[in-house]
Amino acid sequence: MVKTCTFCVLLILSLYTLQAHGALKLASYYRDHMVLQRGPQQAVLWGNADTEGDTVTAQVIGQGSAVNTTVQNGNWKLRLPAIKDPGPFVVNVISGDGGHVTLNDVLFGDVWFCSGQSNMELDMNQILNSAYEIRKGIEKKNIRLLKVAHVNSSSPQYDTKYYIRWTVPNKQYLPQFSAVCFLFAEYLQSHLNYPIGLVDSAWGGTSIEAWSPHDAVQTCPLPHYENYLECCPMVPEVLYNAMVHPFLDMTIFGVLWYQGETNEGQDEIYKCQIKALVDSWRKNFNQRSLGETPVDFPFGYVQLATGNPDLVSAQPALRWAQTVGYGYSPNPALPDTFMAVAMDLKDVGTNPLGPYHPRDKQDVAQRLVLGALNVAYGRKNIEFQGPFPTAFEKDQDQKTLTIEYDHGHTPLDIRSNDGFDVCCNTFAPACDGNSTWVKALITGHDNSHVTVSYAGCGSRRLVGLRYAWKSQPCEFKQCAIYSAESDLPAPIYITKSPPA
Ligand SMILES: *[C@@H]1O[C@H](CO)[C@@H](O)[C@H](O)[C@H]1NC(C)=O
Ligand SMILES: *[C@@H]1O[C@H](CO)[C@@H](O)[C@H](O)[C@H]1NC(C)=O
Ligand SMILES: *[C@@H]1O[C@H](CO)[C@@H](O)[C@H](O)[C@H]1NC(C)=O
Repeated sequence: MVKTCTFCVLLILSLYTLQAHGALKLASYYRDHMVLQRGPQQAVLWGNADTEGDTVTAQVIGQGSAVNTTVQNGNWKLRLPAIKDPGPFVVNVISGDGGHVTLNDVLFGDVWFCSGQSNMELDMNQILNSAYEIRKGIEKKNIRLLKVAHVNSSSPQYDTKYYIRWTVPNKQYLPQFSAVCFLFAEYLQSHLNYPIGLVDSAWGGTSIEAWSPHDAVQTCPLPHYENYLECCPMVPEVLYNAMVHPFLDMTIFGVLWYQGETNEGQDEIYKCQIKALVDSWRKNFNQRSLGETPVDFPFGYVQLATGNPDLVSAQPALRWAQTVGYGYSPNPALPDTFMAVAMDLKDVGTNPLGPYHPRDKQDVAQRLVLGALNVAYGRKNIEFQGPFPTAFEKDQDQKTLTIEYDHGHTPLDIRSNDGFDVCCNTFAPACDGNSTWVKALITGHDNSHVTVSYAGCGSRRLVGLRYAWKSQPCEFKQCAIYSAESDLPAPIYITKSPPA
């Protein structure tokens, strides 16, 4: 009797295995516990099958009728109905030739794709108060995690490898997951009240060109393209091919991006590269998802935090380049984007990760959530941008410059009188090679204006202005200009023509 039953179990197991690993396959990221994109978007499912012309049928059990498609060239791809009910659901996929795959515990929510270099990769174990944050995080069973392995490829891939397969946040895996990505979802979820799926696809020390598809790399030629070492994470296209391209078919809601440190010193090209990356990711995610990932999907990014204090110009210039030279987001070059400022979150001294990796990712995530709520979720009453200069007035007798912020609408909180430099020039009315930058102290302010002295120019002309143009512009949350209402810092600023 015992023998027979053992045999039964083995037979059932082997039949099940045959079915699950038979002719019909889903792409490797369709798994139990995953989040599929909720309505009004339609989640896309795709995979491979053996029988050409066979019908593949998918059904979310209890959510409307089945949908089907035909196998072509060994592939199939279909859209599920638009589903707003969060689930959990069982999803069945069957093929006419007897293939059968079941996905269990599938939720419907918003899927965010998180990418970039070390500050995106920096995990929950490494942040401030990590034990507390992990304890709190593992309660969030409606956030689901997928972490992509470090892989590279010289050609676009349709499959990839994983460090973490779709899972609820738990003690084993949450500590290894991107902190910015997870905390963003945790804070965002309190506003949305439905599931969030996160794909963490990041690699420390990597360049933007490695994350760019071929056409974007062609759009922004690199000076020494042919001299690139055969060291893979830096070669153009290789991470896009292996860590982004496989996901293009999956319907997503938006992207978070924290990258740029590796491209410091290359800021003029970066302006072209970031725009090309955003444009090409949007186009490719849209096309491959049968139009279900919107072509203008929200793209949030973190403006670089701090770096080594001696690198005065490379890091601010890269922060400026991240905005394509506008200073804020969204802007005409980067529509439907949002930016979190992080330069005032300095964490040096006791930080074992060094000045480039502030461990306060909570504030970064909070600032990203404000941007997402406004730009991605249409809550237009939510303030998400720090104060930004809108007009200047020069007083030549007093040698002062008054800067108006946000057309006079934002009450300012001035936390220091240090942060501005003026550009002075004897010869030309421009901040060129003959000019020098001189510190300009704040001498006064009212509700939404700040006055600085340019007496340091002496008899020279005032031909430019910059703000927070340093790798480490201030102590923790003590830069000069904040919004008194939202508590958000003013981002860096520069003009190389005479203000006023
Ligand atoms: C595929 O779906 C269409 C539209 O719902 C339906 O008419 C057709 O019968 C389905 N085909 C199969 C083989 O299930
Ligand atoms: C890039 O991928 C190849 C295999 O495709 C691997 O041998 C190599 O180690 C990878 N490079 C890095 C830096 O991981
Ligand atoms: C500096 O000024 C001189 C005199 O006007 C001019 O000839 C020269 O081109 C300027 N140099 C730069 C770098 O702008």
